[in-house]
Amino acid sequence: MSLSNKKILLGIGGGIAAYKSADLVRRLKERGAEVRVVMSQGAKEFITPLTLQALSGHPVASDLLDPAAEAAMGHIELARWADLMIIAPATANLIARFNAGMADELITTCVLATSAPIALCPAMNQQMYINAATQANLSNLRQRGIHLWGPASGSQACGEIGPGRMLEPLEIAKQAEAFFAPQLLAGQKIMITAGPTREAIDPVRYISNHSSGKMGYALAQAAQAMGADVTLVSGPTQLATPSGVTRINVESADDMLSAVMADIAKQTIFIGCAAVADYRVADIATQKVKKSSSTMTLALVRNPDILASVAALDNKPFCVGFAAETQDVEHYAKGKLTAKRLDMIAANDVSVAGLGFNADSNALQVIWPTGQQALPATDKLTLAQQLLTLIATHKHA
Ligand code: PMT
Repeated sequence: MSLSNKKILLGIGGGIAAYKSADLVRRLKERGAEVRVVMSQGAKEFITPLTLQALSGHPVASDLLDPAAEAAMGHIELARWADLMIIAPATANLIARFNAGMADELITTCVLATSAPIALCPAMNQQMYINAATQANLSNLRQRGIHLWGPASGSQACGEIGPGRMLEPLEIAKQAEAFFAPQLLAGQKIMITAGPTREAIDPVRYISNHSSGKMGYALAQAAQAMGADVTLVSGPTQLATPSGVTRINVESADDMLSAVMADIAKQTIFIGCAAVADYRVADIATQKVKKSSSTMTLALVRNPDILASVAALDNKPFCVGFAAETQDVEHYAKGKLTAKRLDMIAANDVSVAGLGFNADSNALQVIWPTGQQALPATDKLTLAQQLLTLIATHKHA
């Protein structure tokens, strides 16, 4: 089991998502983790300690000044016991108190007292999440090395729609699995391209595609968790940078090529996951183009092939490409593996509904010069771990 022998201290904050934390305990335990729970005073208004005690198999603490709880396993012991502390849900109020370094109740005290890594799963109203105060608190906490898992975006308990939903328990459990992944990529420097590129037509319009960046960001997160030093060269996306990953933002294919080439000499592995626009506008208008006729013709010129340029270097890193295809997927992918002189290619059938572009799941057929392996449909983080495990095996072969 992927979390065997892992001790996870789960801190539950006082938000409506607290009811999901019961399922989170179950998900963590079924993966082999030992789970102990601390609750904020507010959390007890949403879910009872007895529920969490029954699920975790351990007494649940919430009071810093409870002599009985302190005699059993005191807050310092709890903080020392953990291999990982997860706060789910992490409310705006808790996040502000963590940022201020407060020790005003058991949950904040454990966060201060633990030397274990901490992951926050934010959950709050979307306006509270995008508020500058919350964003500044999260940014400070990230800089202090605290991991942020989520939030997701979507419909909220308050009826609004936007970012601030706690990740689902299964997704949090998968994040924990990725966190404890074997260090198969220790010592490797990996550069990953992700997201779309934007090719300007004029100052307000561009040509682009449906890539969300999710696949590339999942690869970056998983590679970092597997011990690699990761640089993410990213086209425009809505995604947060995975903890511990260096991100370079770019817009166009030309920008992406420059950013990649500036740092490629240090890399041992390169993964081209970005959906790079194959063409750009020949003459970008300096002013907004006016609607002067009923049709419009744009002259396009080929963009440089970033992956092929990296693979053509004398001292090339281990090069992995993606091939997004809608028909004859394997055939075209094999053609790209050879034509671009790659070490491996991940053939991605993007004609299947619910997989590929802008989806949370994906499936790949991974091909290398002497073999291939199917990676069936699953969430992008799990798939990223599987692809990186293959890369680690073949790089060392
Ligand atoms: O971002 P998501 O929404 O999560 O979606 C993920 C994805 C579908 C974008 C991803 O899994 C994927 O398939 N990425 C490759 C998309 C693509 O552009 O494929 P391609 O077959 O056109 O290109 C082949 C390879 O050459 C790719 O590795 C690509 O990054 C690279 N390339 C292509 C053109 C170019 N000018 N430069 C390149 O480096």
